[in-house]
Amino acid sequence: MRVREAQAVDVPALLGLWEEFVAHEEAFDPDEFDIGPAERRRYEDLFVSKLSDPGAAIFVAEDGGRLVGYTMGWKRPRILAKGSTGYVNDVFVTEGARRQGVGTALVRTILAWFQAEGVSKVDLYVYAENEKGKGLYDHLGFRAIAHRLTKELE
Ligand SMILES: CC(C)(COP(=O)(O)OP(=O)(O)OC[C@H]1O[C@@H](n2cnc3c(N)ncnc32)[C@H](O)[C@@H]1OP(=O)(O)O)[C@@H](O)C(=O)NCCC(=O)NCCS
Repeated sequence: MRVREAQAVDVPALLGLWEEFVAHEEAFDPDEFDIGPAERRRYEDLFVSKLSDPGAAIFVAEDGGRLVGYTMGWKRPRILAKGSTGYVNDVFVTEGARRQGVGTALVRTILAWFQAEGVSKVDLYVYAENEKGKGLYDHLGFRAIAHRLTKELE
């Protein structure tokens, strides 16, 4: 397994991993997701635009020529302090490749990329009931600093 920067040719495989990722995340917050062709196209556009954005990074984990995981993040300007915060939007490892260090390698790689970009703080969201995600981020030294509240309106 090796982690490398994603390229334009990876976009179809990235979309396949993203669909697995969404199916996983949907279970935690069904109202948040209503994925159809338009949403799929928007996410494809997001991958394509982040690939050419110098303030963003997508890394893939490749094993035997097949993508088994990816992470994507970007820099966000801070409003109440100087500089930028790193934001990790996606971290996913396909089911058959889990618990072998792939998630750790992906997140460590994007953290190193942020650090090289001069970013000293990285944020991400994880669903409260996502034990795998919380386990990974805990393992990597992240700490919880906020609760995101939500309420469905009738
Ligand atoms: C979360 C995820 C990326 C972890 O990927 P992974 O390749 O299995 O992670 P690693 O093998 O690097 O695991 C590193 C550590 O994370 C923790 N961890 C990983 N999976 C875990 C689980 N199912 N339960 C508890 N802790 C877990 C452990 O501390 C693990 O170390 P260990 O295997 O030595 O015990 C993967 O399970 C996944 O893609 N899940 C679905 C998507 C998701 O939840 N993404 C993150 C939130 S956005």
